[in-house]
Amino acid sequence: MKIRAAVLEEFGAPLEVQELELAEPKAGEVLVRLVACGVCHTDLYTASGADPSGYSPTVLGHEGAGVVEVVGDSVTDVAPGDHVVTLFSPQCRECEHCRDHRTNLCLAIREQQNQGHLPDGTTRLSRDGEPIRHFMGTSTFAECTVMPEIALAKIDPEAPLDRACLFACGLSTGIGAALNTAKVASGSTCVVFGAGMVGLGAVVGCRLQGAERIICVDLSGERLALARSHGATDEMLGGPDVVEQLLELTGGLGADYTFEATGNVNVMRQAVESARMGWGLATMCGVAGKGETLNVVPRFLITGRRIAGSSFGGVKGRDQVPQFVDMYLAGDIDVDAFVSHKLTLDDVNQGFELMEAQDGIRSVIDFA
Ligand code: CU
Ligand code: ZN
Repeated sequence: MKIRAAVLEEFGAPLEVQELELAEPKAGEVLVRLVACGVCHTDLYTASGADPSGYSPTVLGHEGAGVVEVVGDSVTDVAPGDHVVTLFSPQCRECEHCRDHRTNLCLAIREQQNQGHLPDGTTRLSRDGEPIRHFMGTSTFAECTVMPEIALAKIDPEAPLDRACLFACGLSTGIGAALNTAKVASGSTCVVFGAGMVGLGAVVGCRLQGAERIICVDLSGERLALARSHGATDEMLGGPDVVEQLLELTGGLGADYTFEATGNVNVMRQAVESARMGWGLATMCGVAGKGETLNVVPRFLITGRRIAGSSFGGVKGRDQVPQFVDMYLAGDIDVDAFVSHKLTLDDVNQGFELMEAQDGIRSVIDFA
């Protein structure tokens, strides 16, 4: 079938909306008609050429939600008409990691996905007979996409898809960091560095876990105000003195849990140093630049602080994303407040511009 999609032709240049050919799904694969897709920093990171593992041409986009249109052979978990959220982090339920509660990093299709291929080593996207590679196993800046069944979370059809799409990446990453990685205990004190989509998700997660105090640190007063409406109890402007100020706010000892959601290694260090002596846990959600390292004075660790890394918030997507969507429908997560701009596919580059200008939390492409 012919589809319209936003193609990354050349790093650093605007995406080009073009007509491509999308082949039918093979065994274990599903054709999804996208209804909505968020524009995330990882898309921009790859489009800019900063990502050393990036390639072109490819169709970007990984924060998608849509409706199943066609299923390939041996697909059992979804059927035409089902509403789904796309998962760049799949869950096969069979590999060593999927069977272990300690991680969400499914091993099933990693290598093929990193190379831009579907699990059988080929692509369903092409242009004039020339294969076009997939991106993050999702390629959701497109009217339709073909994805492995193990990379789709089936959700309640009551959920508006232009909200549900945020659970495909940023929002789940933040919420999951608090619920799965840190396992925040009720009554505790938390610090969240960064009030973008991931950091705000972490604020929500800390609130859902019953944290007593949630201190949010950011450079924007506007974003800090938003953090308060999602459960932050204290706000602080970021800067070199933040650790000192945080220690002051927490009786000199630091916080039970800290979360880093900026990708800045200096902020990561602040997250470690503001975690409490004895048991403070610093969870790293941000993605640092290539070659950057985290500088930690070992004394902080020997006195009982720990550091954890979190990818997609430790969320096993097919199991937990539908639960998050149910929590949204139950009124426990205010997703509406995160959608700051609605765009058409043709406006996709405007989504990047808004992100670079730090205008709003999320732009969502509406395919309707
Ligand atoms: Cu993302
Ligand atoms: Zn797996």
